[in-house]
Amino acid sequence: MPNWKVIFDPVETFKGLQAHHVRIPESMQSKAPALRVNPFTPQQPIVDPSKFAGRGAVIINAVDSLFNHKNLIITGERGIGKSSVAYQLLYLAKGERALLEKINIDTGGFAFHHLIGDHRCVIGNTLIDIVESWRNSLSMSLGPLTNKHKEKWDFTLDLKLFKISHSHEFHRIDVSELVSATINMLEDVKQKYGYNYNGISLLIDEIDALSEEVKIAPFLKAVTEALKFKGHDDISFILAGVTGTITELVIQHPSVNRLFENIPLLKMETTELQELINSALANTKTSINSETMAAIIGLADNYPEPVHLLGYHTYRYDSNKILENDDLDRAISFIVKELKRQEFDGLYDKASEDIQGLVLRTLAGIERTEISYEEVASQLNLKKRYVASVLGALLEKGLLIKADRGKFKIRSPLFKIYLRWVLKI
Ligand SMILES: Nc1ncnc2c1ncn2[C@@H]1O[C@H](COP(=O)(O)OP(=O)(O)OP(=O)(O)O)[C@@H](O)[C@H]1O
Ligand SMILES: [Mg+2]
Repeated sequence: MPNWKVIFDPVETFKGLQAHHVRIPESMQSKAPALRVNPFTPQQPIVDPSKFAGRGAVIINAVDSLFNHKNLIITGERGIGKSSVAYQLLYLAKGERALLEKINIDTGGFAFHHLIGDHRCVIGNTLIDIVESWRNSLSMSLGPLTNKHKEKWDFTLDLKLFKISHSHEFHRIDVSELVSATINMLEDVKQKYGYNYNGISLLIDEIDALSEEVKIAPFLKAVTEALKFKGHDDISFILAGVTGTITELVIQHPSVNRLFENIPLLKMETTELQELINSALANTKTSINSETMAAIIGLADNYPEPVHLLGYHTYRYDSNKILENDDLDRAISFIVKELKRQEFDGLYDKASEDIQGLVLRTLAGIERTEISYEEVASQLNLKKRYVASVLGALLEKGLLIKADRGKFKIRSPLFKIYLRWVLKI
């Protein structure tokens, strides 16, 4: 027998006290939500162009760059949508027209038909790993062509360096040898299969995962310059990485800066995020209450990743095919108290000094998002300059972020909800 908790009305009968009107408490009645395919994808870049929202101006500029054989570097904060943009560009370059039509880009009759190579960096990757991935994915994108002609693709990356890479002596890799091997490989591909394509696009995503020893900037400079020199102006490179040290290094490398067009991604507009939610829900027979939609976008602070995260769990809790505030409330509670609990605990622990905790509590207690240091100082009856220095320390530790006009705000609305919950505000 399952061990169910029930409630009942005790009634005095001739047999003594008996349980009448036995029932399952309301809080236990809600059935576990049924499993269903969730249209929100908080952990994956958008691959389906029909689910890719907004970013019209970015895509138009990037397509123009690809058309004019420029190289691109997509940068922005973690989770802002860099990989999603990069993948859409690769699809576009390959010949997929859906996004072009959605954004209404006139290519003047030109149709992209590029061969595609891509690599997603993970910690420990070397330049050889990148070029090897390009080789593998280029050969895969040749697939249908080779089948039709019943021939096997054959082009190799002729490297004497493999032994070195496998013995982990990465720093001794001879960049110039890798550069010539890469050029030879690309020339080989073009010579053998180029008649069927009008370009090659090569992606390196997550470049921030590379260590500083990986000399990506000099490598790219040498490859792009050699290609230009040899007249191969139909090969474009697309890089994507979180704004930070490595990405910055690449951008700031004098030649990369000249050879790559920087595409910085910013937060998304509310209308773009409405489009994101609506296109995710399309074909699910599920709708969303407009108030709930606005609340999700507000809680996500206009970043796409938390919209997917909140959307995912709101959808998971929904049982009547309308996403409403009560579904969202359960989603928030789950995210703050379970899913992100460890991350938020770790952040909160960083407010190590008592005064930092006190200032954080004060900020969490104010309904408004953006708060000035004068306001905190007057609430705590402390010197303004002292409060400003505490806020500066919290900012450095990543608990706060700068808002407009010298104001501060708590790192994210979800973290604020967490703080109010742990501090019992
Ligand atoms: N234009 C968009 N339309 C719909 N969803 C988007 C869009 N941009 C990003 N997303 C969603 O936001 C989340 C983060 O996107 P993505 O992985 O592309 O970001 P990123 O900047 O590459 O992240 P990271 O810094 O972790 O590499 C994913 O869930 C993705 O589906
Ligand atoms: Mg990414």
